[in-house]
Amino acid sequence: MIRSAICGIGMALPKRVVKNADLEEIVDTSDEWIHQRTGIRQRYIAGEGETTVTLGTQAAQAALEDARLGIQDIDMIILATSTPDHTFPASATEIQRALGMAHGFAFDIQAVCSGFIFAMTTADLYIRCKTARRALVIGSETFSRLLDWKDRTTCVLFGDGAGAVILEAREGKGDSQDYGILASILRSDGRHIEKLYVDGGPSTTQTTGHLCMEGREVFKYAVGMISDVVDACLEIVGITAPNIDWFIPHQANRRIIESLTHRLGISDDKVVITVDKHGNTSAASVPLALAVADKDGRLRKGDLIMLQAMGGGFAWGSIILRL
Ligand code: ACO
Repeated sequence: MIRSAICGIGMALPKRVVKNADLEEIVDTSDEWIHQRTGIRQRYIAGEGETTVTLGTQAAQAALEDARLGIQDIDMIILATSTPDHTFPASATEIQRALGMAHGFAFDIQAVCSGFIFAMTTADLYIRCKTARRALVIGSETFSRLLDWKDRTTCVLFGDGAGAVILEAREGKGDSQDYGILASILRSDGRHIEKLYVDGGPSTTQTTGHLCMEGREVFKYAVGMISDVVDACLEIVGITAPNIDWFIPHQANRRIIESLTHRLGISDDKVVITVDKHGNTSAASVPLALAVADKDGRLRKGDLIMLQAMGGGFAWGSIILRL
């Protein structure tokens, strides 16, 4: 059977680092509060000329280089973002142009923090039904531009950045030893929209709006919802959580990650954490964490990796893959 395997990984971050202490100048907060509640120490914030498209393009170029491929080798691009450069066209087509790709097709997926999991799952389906042989899957966000910088309950939590992978078709036997995506589960439940949303949009206010979140409410649901999809993925692959080599969760809050890890029985040394350095970068968070662990040599070919994300909607999901 055909599997979708990762053959290249890339990332990009804005130039400017904003430390917690820098935020003390803007809102009534402290490094101690932010770190204790979230694990965040700093985040990267896009400056002039840095956008979702420029960061996504850089991450895509890094992934192509890592895979030793050219843009002519790519059949499709999916960009996961909630912060597109324009309402339309899809920012994926702007990245397509920036990469010099005039063939194939490109589109955006919007599932907020779970966007990359939704985009990977979608690309996997295109590859397995032979519509594409290679897909460039990008998560890129500039959440700093959706934030109300006077609201201390949200502005300290997010950052900007991009991560990208190239998925390619590989022949597999159909068992858990195959390379590539072995299982994925997607979920959403619109009854929770008011807990995490942006209060603007072209069809309602004709403005971009600002991010609004009932953080405590989101926290309450996060661990249970994520555990459900993770358990379902483990069951499909026929393994238990301790068999996983690397757990790469959405980087929203260190406390959520730790609760999840303990509940699943995964040891701390198998968990990739980047929330301290990047903050919550929404759809970019999982591919950025994947890229960091790849670049620093932690990930090895053949490793079994579990990805997971949860965010606005709520929308959530999980993927198990062999690198
Ligand atoms: N600095 C100092 N104090 C603050 C700050 C701040 N930046 N923000 C809030 N406070 C205060 C509050 O006003 C409150 O004060 P009060 O008790 O006097 O009313 C106190 O700190 C506690 O506030 P809580 O909201 O209860 O703090 P909590 O421990 O829940 O932490 C947090 C808040 C970090 C937001 C946490 O709830 C969380 O991480 N939630 C989940 C977020 C998440 O995972 N989102 C999903 C992904 S995001 C996406 O999809 C786009």
